[in-house]
Amino acid sequence: MAIRVLPDAAAVAKYAADLICAAVAAKPRANLGLPTGGTPIPLYEELNLRAAGGACDPSAVLVYAIDEFCDARRTTPGTNTQFYREHIRFRTRALYCPNPSATEPDLHIRAYAEAIRRGGSLDLCVLGIGQTGHIAFNEPGSARDSPARVIELTATSRQAHAASFGGIEGVPTHGMTLGIADLLESTTIIVLATGGHKADIIRSAIEGPIRPETPASWLQEHPSVTWLLDAAAAQALTI
Ligand code: PGA
Repeated sequence: MAIRVLPDAAAVAKYAADLICAAVAAKPRANLGLPTGGTPIPLYEELNLRAAGGACDPSAVLVYAIDEFCDARRTTPGTNTQFYREHIRFRTRALYCPNPSATEPDLHIRAYAEAIRRGGSLDLCVLGIGQTGHIAFNEPGSARDSPARVIELTATSRQAHAASFGGIEGVPTHGMTLGIADLLESTTIIVLATGGHKADIIRSAIEGPIRPETPASWLQEHPSVTWLLDAAAAQALTI
């Protein structure tokens, strides 16, 4: 794995945008998995600017969300569907997000993952990492072979989304997620983490044992992962 420690969140966004734009230049019809959350917002601002200025042309890519909340409407503020609408302003061939109001979410997310697989899987998957070590919504306890599924969200993860749902009681208790197995099928993976509150989980994910309790530790088994960290998120690393 490659680990790049950059001075701050703005530098992480620029570096990630460089990697994404290079991947898109090499394969204009690439399948991209793109994350939600606070961390990637500066990245999307950077990509929106580069695409508007012609420095990057993602107009032929397919973008896939890697998770979504259950039991919400597509119009509910806080859903990943709304996040995509708000933050991804560059033109693409299509943006796909699981349907948060799917009546059979387990079937829905399995079909969603199968459609990605039929389309050749993700060429590049960009991930954030939760303080629980989750990648997408694969919370602690997620095995290496975990498939796309519905999962109960931890209190920590729900709390992290409280503001965007207007309070913790508004945050759905369950989410739909691509599984660890699906994410590891991506050709290339980039993980973004910024801020000192991520330092301990970054150390566990990169240096700790590979185990279900730390879902991001499965990334140690992937042949092409780049961690893009700001100095604060990298501060507990010893390697
Ligand atoms: P954050 O979320 O970027 O808001 O910290 C990361 C994640 O949960 O994947």
